[in-house]
Amino acid sequence: MLELEVKKIGINGEGIAYYNKKIVFIDNALPKEKVKVEVVEETDKFIKAKLKEIIVKSPFRVEPKCEKYYECGGCNLQHIKYEESLNLKRELIIEALEKYSGLNPRKFEIKKTIGMTNPYNYRNKVSAPIKDLNGCAWGIYKPNTNHLVILHDCIVQYSELNDLLNKIVKLMDKLGFKPKSKNEGLIKYVVARQSSYTKEIQVTFILGETKTDIAPLVDEVKKIPNVASIYSDINKGETIDIFGSKLKKHFGEDYITDKLDNYCFDLLPNAFFQLNPSQAVHLYNEAKKAAKLSLKEKVVDCYCGVGTISLWISKLAKEVVGIENNKEAIKSANENAINNKIKNVKFICGDAVAELDKINDIDVIIADPPRSGMRDLTYKILDKEPKRVVYVSCNPSTLAKDLKVLSKKYDVKYIQPIDMFPFTPHVETVCLLTKK
Ligand SMILES: C[S@@+](CC[C@H](N)C(=O)[O-])C[C@H]1O[C@@H](n2cnc3c(N)ncnc32)[C@H](O)[C@@H]1O
Repeated sequence: MLELEVKKIGINGEGIAYYNKKIVFIDNALPKEKVKVEVVEETDKFIKAKLKEIIVKSPFRVEPKCEKYYECGGCNLQHIKYEESLNLKRELIIEALEKYSGLNPRKFEIKKTIGMTNPYNYRNKVSAPIKDLNGCAWGIYKPNTNHLVILHDCIVQYSELNDLLNKIVKLMDKLGFKPKSKNEGLIKYVVARQSSYTKEIQVTFILGETKTDIAPLVDEVKKIPNVASIYSDINKGETIDIFGSKLKKHFGEDYITDKLDNYCFDLLPNAFFQLNPSQAVHLYNEAKKAAKLSLKEKVVDCYCGVGTISLWISKLAKEVVGIENNKEAIKSANENAINNKIKNVKFICGDAVAELDKINDIDVIIADPPRSGMRDLTYKILDKEPKRVVYVSCNPSTLAKDLKVLSKKYDVKYIQPIDMFPFTPHVETVCLLTKK
């Protein structure tokens, strides 16, 4: 047993301490706590330890609200006061910058994290694995295992989606849609997204094989209030994505429609759409504020998804070009421009680097890449030399690495953190860079 003082939290929400200069990761320990831990794994570089006793407790420690919290692993910051978790998320950004960017984060402003007034039931989409565990069950895989933690009520998801999943697994039992073995299911996942505006729900059954006939299940699920469309897709386990390439509609409308601020967005099941709509409004407003548009600018929105940011900023720009490599998302983006009566926006389906290469005389580039970051796009931005770059990031580490490249020609003006996923260690940021 070791006695350690926790110094900070890590990117996965774990407490970080040091033992003989070696980093020690301790799940559920909080900064400034003195703890007794048991070593469970030791390598040349790190120690993983289990929290056994808290000798000095953090004043910010609270009782988690979810009864499955210590078993599930879906959230890792429920044991700390919400307001303090916002401060810790800001710290995570500073640390990532210190570690990877080569910049001194004290030289520009890192604003306070924009949090939620009510940080519960914020998630508009679930992708729930289904298993037969003495009856069909939905839940979440415990991280790095195939052990399904059964859930009935997840406090971060829309409660109507919890109810929907509870009803669907009951129907699966009743109609004999049992997974074949413990791991391999006829229905492997249920993906469901609910519009925050119309309350419509879009359900997608992710199947393990093509011959499964889900018609009897569709007939029952379509009777559940607010279910507006039902799809299926096939996932044979070849990729890490839940969706495959055989999306098929079984019932209802092609799209469900969500509305953020004054903009409507039509959504197909596999198009990216922010998971926390009320915080997405803050995110997009911050991106608009950072872009500092005055009706004269040509803007490129790289990684535009269904066109959310492009449309959001369009009224302040001369023209906007959105680039996105997902065909369905581009289809939705074009519909969204028409439905919102916006004419100065054009969407291109293709790779961000290749397509940006073909565009000249750009005033502002906005980029909202996946967690892997911008990578080669940073060099393309250096070539194109826009006046401003607005970097919207969901991963402080890749943000910091990309800023290292971009800072050859750009100054970081400020970073605005936004809490899109309360109780998880994730943090979104909007970063403004201006040409030196
Ligand atoms: C974080 S999402 C941002 C979407 C959008 N800005 C929003 O807020 O809804 C990243 C998007 O980048 C797209 N994407 C991933 N790799 C890409 C690439 N190499 N070129 C273009 N788009 C890409 C994904 O399909 C996804 O829609």
